[in-house]
Amino acid sequence: MMGKLIDGKRVAKQAREAIAAKVAQRVSEGKRVPGLAVIIVGEDPASQVYVRNKERASKAAGFKSEVIRMDASVAQAELLAEIDRLNADPSIDGILVQLPLPRHLDENMVLARIEAAKDVDGFHTLNAGALFTGQTGTIACTPKGILRLLDVYEVPVAGKHAVVVGRSNIVGKPAAMLLLSRNATVTLCHSRTEDLALHTRMADILVVAVGSKHLITPEMIKPGAVVIDAGINRVDGVLYGDVDTEGAMDVVSLITPVPGGVGPMTIAMLLENTLEACERHG
Ligand code: GUN
Repeated sequence: MMGKLIDGKRVAKQAREAIAAKVAQRVSEGKRVPGLAVIIVGEDPASQVYVRNKERASKAAGFKSEVIRMDASVAQAELLAEIDRLNADPSIDGILVQLPLPRHLDENMVLARIEAAKDVDGFHTLNAGALFTGQTGTIACTPKGILRLLDVYEVPVAGKHAVVVGRSNIVGKPAAMLLLSRNATVTLCHSRTEDLALHTRMADILVVAVGSKHLITPEMIKPGAVVIDAGINRVDGVLYGDVDTEGAMDVVSLITPVPGGVGPMTIAMLLENTLEACERHG
């Protein structure tokens, strides 16, 4: 079988264009534009790239964009005070604190400080809990983007066996919950899973979000599977996914490339979550 690539770049571009059109419509009606604030603490090079891309996409869609850069040694109280200021700013609909944070900061306490209504990352316990209990809330950008790709490519999910590798709060766990909410049978694998290949070989839909270059080899994939690779691994300046895409092409029916698969969807869904927050805030 010769697999097909899922073009995340194209799907994300269409989503961003639809968002930009809605923002232009708001402006023509005399309404305010969505506002997104991104806080980045420290100099992590990957985070710098992500934040720059978020800022660029946000401006291109016609949003108000604010990036707050804080020193790696910033005191927790100072970071919380900045979040309080943004919570109270009516021109800001979305607040995102780029992760990971330096170790001296309490990530859970920082994320909890963001107003749930402005938590466009979907990381606040109220939004994560809403997903867990089948209620409406903001869904984390990367898993939301993964489901969007499955929908656009008309991949059946109900009744299928979805195997998620990686149990992060950012991707693995919410992706598993979303697939479950779509009536997939879900297996969630992680670093302590015994015989990972035994599980991955049973997957009709395989979602990988670990951060380990080419962890998934072609022998670990069921023939005809749909493979979603959320890994981004930079080795000597080159980006690799968690899946050996080239080798997997002969086995899969559909697969996301890295780059150009899940990555662009994350930013598009961030813009979508921010626009939706703006529409709710009025
Ligand atoms: N770090 C890696 N991915 C993400 C994300 O989607 N949001 C935030 N805030 N930090 C991240």
